[in-house]
Amino acid sequence: MNILTILGSPRKKGNTAGALDMVEQELSGWHQVERLALASVKVNGCLGCEACQKVTDRPGCVQKDDAVAVFERMMAADAVNKTVIPFCTTPDALGEDARTAARKLAGDISGVLRQ
Ligand SMILES: Cc1cc2nc3c(=O)[nH]c(=O)nc-3n(C[C@H](O)[C@H](O)[C@H](O)COP(=O)(O)O)c2cc1C
Repeated sequence: MNILTILGSPRKKGNTAGALDMVEQELSGWHQVERLALASVKVNGCLGCEACQKVTDRPGCVQKDDAVAVFERMMAADAVNKTVIPFCTTPDALGEDARTAARKLAGDISGVLRQ
């Protein structure tokens, strides 16, 4: 399987990265593993304009950021492992960015992601 791991910590060499290293090491014995560090991509917050909801055949976000590229890498993988850390009991900002990337897509496509 092609597995995409998503590092949700802003620290690329922090505790989360260390834990993810161990997971990836185990997985790489059987699978093709590729990591995406959310700290390396730019996903702007949702503007709430709802333009994306009017487009059903492609990602319809009006913002030109990396959200679509993140989404396409997730869709190309057979499995996705997202590792997010708690900051004040909720996912940190980058973890929220990943959720925003999914939300910012057209209704049909984001429905696939929720499955
Ligand atoms: C601002 C801030 C808030 C945090 N809030 C929580 C929390 O609510 N619950 C928790 O278990 N850990 C919390 N932590 C601890 C981090 O999740 C923990 O240190 C984590 O290992 C940091 O990951 P990193 O090394 O990849 O940056 C918080 C850390 C920071 C800096």
